[in-house]
Amino acid sequence: MSLPAIEQLLKETMGLNSASIGSSAINRAVQQRMRERDIAQPEDYLLRLRGSPAELQQLIDLVIVPETWFFRDRHPFVALARYAKESWKRTGRPGPLRILSVPCSTGEEPYTIVMTLLDAGLTPNDFQVDAVDISEPNLHRARGGLYREHSFRGDDLAFRDRYFLRAEQGYLLQPEIRNHVRFHHANLLIAGFMSDSPLFDVVFCRNLLIYFDRATQAQALQVLERLLHPQGLLFLGHAEAGVLAGRDFASLEHPQSFAFVRGRKRDADSAPMPTAPPKRQRIPAPAPKQPLTPRPFASVAHAPAKTPAPAPDNRGDLDTATRLADEGHMVEAATLCEKHLQQCGPDAQAFYLLAIVRQAVGEPAEAEALLRKALYLDPSHYEALTHLAVLLEQRGDKVNAELVRQRAQRSHGRRQDEAAQRADKV
Ligand SMILES: C[S@@+](CC[C@H](N)C(=O)[O-])C[C@H]1O[C@@H](n2cnc3c(N)ncnc32)[C@H](O)[C@@H]1O
Repeated sequence: MSLPAIEQLLKETMGLNSASIGSSAINRAVQQRMRERDIAQPEDYLLRLRGSPAELQQLIDLVIVPETWFFRDRHPFVALARYAKESWKRTGRPGPLRILSVPCSTGEEPYTIVMTLLDAGLTPNDFQVDAVDISEPNLHRARGGLYREHSFRGDDLAFRDRYFLRAEQGYLLQPEIRNHVRFHHANLLIAGFMSDSPLFDVVFCRNLLIYFDRATQAQALQVLERLLHPQGLLFLGHAEAGVLAGRDFASLEHPQSFAFVRGRKRDADSAPMPTAPPKRQRIPAPAPKQPLTPRPFASVAHAPAKTPAPAPDNRGDLDTATRLADEGHMVEAATLCEKHLQQCGPDAQAFYLLAIVRQAVGEPAEAEALLRKALYLDPSHYEALTHLAVLLEQRGDKVNAELVRQRAQRSHGRRQDEAAQRADKV
């Protein structure tokens, strides 16, 4: 069998864990390359891959998930603007402010950083943005600066009027913004990654670690730590914050920014957000019963579902899956959910967790289908309702997004009533 060997080669080269996108996605990419190369036998294709870095790169370009958009998640950019305006100058570090976006995919993230900093009042000489991705086609599109509708999501698109020109095939980013990002083609996991570069004050590494297993996540974090200034700021994706558990990082007290600063103890002068009291909490090492910060998936593992409860020992799998998802180990969480569904049959929480994993790896349609399955089994599953509302909104269905959000609010109200009643009885 050549497919497992090809999956292993991809994992060793770029870190991709096949469980994150599914073996069938990798198989489709392999079949496509075999057709294009006119190779009939998978064994022969494996040999070609092993002997040709160029062919391996072609396959990598097919299996990567380029999902990204401007101002993705918003809050990290609010935190960045605040850091740049209020804290950066106080650090006394010589300028310009150096920022790395890895992976940058088709450029939306590094360009958002530039727009954010200009909007915050910085001049072009005040900062420098470097952006890295393993996919050359992605970088080619990034340098071109031409974007279509799916790169613009959400309601607040005023930035598009300010920084883009309407073109026949989409929206063209103004050259002043384009010229402000230096793009590099590189693999984060390659030995000596950016070893010649001075340290960065801010590193964005969002929505990459979710494709890696634990060992590769740890390897990637070591690289990021090496590149980040000791008082620098690290931004991760919302499903990845847990991977810092047990490491020397503390979360920045800026809601939903998923930004982290290094060091357990920091004196007041060097605190990066002087306007707010430094209430950061160090993320504790993973422990079965200890809540992590933040815990985006935690709340409903024990919630009463309307489906018949499976045997209690199997329920433990779902608790473990929820904890793993909280810790950023999405691949392992998904594997446990699949196992649970196979052994115990349909379950709202298992479908919900799988949906979050699919959403995190950029498969919103599949995520939506899984959320609907969860809600079929448990119509008042609050987290499934809120995630579905976000997905509907992202694909422009505002009417249904609002209806689902109202359902979520009613479910939340019911939960609070039930909690109050339980408290009264005690
Ligand atoms: C989902 S996009 C994330 C883009 C952006 N950071 C965001 O959050 O919107 C993932 C990107 O990771 C890149 N990638 C995957 N493995 C990589 C590696 N080992 N080194 C550098 N980039 C990698 C892919 O090419 C893809 O463009």
